[in-house]
Amino acid sequence: MPLIDACATEDIDLEDVMRFDHGGHSYAIYRSPDDEFFCTDGLCTHEKVHLAGGLVMDHLIECPKHNGQFDYRTGEAMRAPVCVNLRTYKVTVADGRVLIDLG
Ligand code: FES
Repeated sequence: MPLIDACATEDIDLEDVMRFDHGGHSYAIYRSPDDEFFCTDGLCTHEKVHLAGGLVMDHLIECPKHNGQFDYRTGEAMRAPVCVNLRTYKVTVADGRVLIDLG
């Protein structure tokens, strides 16, 4: 699958997250405090809430519903009640655009 052009780098603040919908699926794109970009599935693995409504703290995303946490770099579930990891997607930044490999 080709890379999908999701947004401009400037569309996401440092240490923040944005929802991105594509092909009937929802993703979350993160910009870390050290200015790297990451992408995971957009819905919490606990009760399918949009993680883009949550809070980014360092390299963690905290779900807005029950405050479960994931490491958005690896998708690893870090704090209960989440116990199923998030799927992650490779991100490339080129010419100020954030490109996601959804393959
Ligand atoms: S829905 Fe995300 S922690 Fe419960």
